Amino acid sequence: MKRVIVGLSGASGVVYGIRLLEVLKGIAEVETHLIVSKGAEITLRLETETSLAAVRALADVVHEHGNLAASISSGSFRACGMVVVPCSMKSLAQIALSLGDNLLSRAADVTLKERRKLVLVPRESPLHLGHLRHMTAVTEMGAIILPPAPSFYHGPQTIMDLVDQTLGKVLDQFEIEHHLFRRWGGDAA
Ligand SMILES: Cc1cc2nc3c(=O)[nH]c(=O)nc-3n(C[C@H](O)[C@H](O)[C@H](O)COP(=O)(O)O)c2cc1C
Repeated sequence: MKRVIVGLSGASGVVYGIRLLEVLKGIAEVETHLIVSKGAEITLRLETETSLAAVRALADVVHEHGNLAASISSGSFRACGMVVVPCSMKSLAQIALSLGDNLLSRAADVTLKERRKLVLVPRESPLHLGHLRHMTAVTEMGAIILPPAPSFYHGPQTIMDLVDQTLGKVLDQFEIEHHLFRRWGGDAA
């Protein structure tokens, strides 16, 4: 069983987080632990017709953003890693500075300190030097910055093809099998 912590923060593109939860729900050997920030609740309302309750129902376990006593707040709770998707510049900064003042940044900090996989899918454009410095800092600490920057040689037809291509790259980081995009050179290892 792979436990994956999924953090949804308030950058545009909450659809990435929803779709990731949908995909992971279909994989029996993955247990998802979800944190939804207040910012993500707002983008969910503005960008989708999906209710918060429906998003929460996609996860195996839901943790409140303010609950610093949650299981995933401790390194003794076993998880294979965490993905923040989409990752706002605020959540990125909180992680870069190890603030740990909400469960999303605390769980990310724990993931880093335990040397587990932390994948951040940042969404902002253009980027100023502060954003870039935070990305450098988290990369130096072991996180993976995985921007939603799809390739076009897969021949995407729909927006969801673009979303799936990025999420396939996320799942690759956790070595979770998927068919979200066709691999260059075929699917064989
Ligand atoms: C519709 C909407 C779109 C936003 N898009 C972005 C974005 O793409 N990137 C970003 O860093 N912040 C974006 N924000 C701002 C964040 O939601 C805001 O900074 C929030 O405080 C982030 O907090 P959180 O990381 O705890 O969710 C957006 C806000 C709204 C309402």
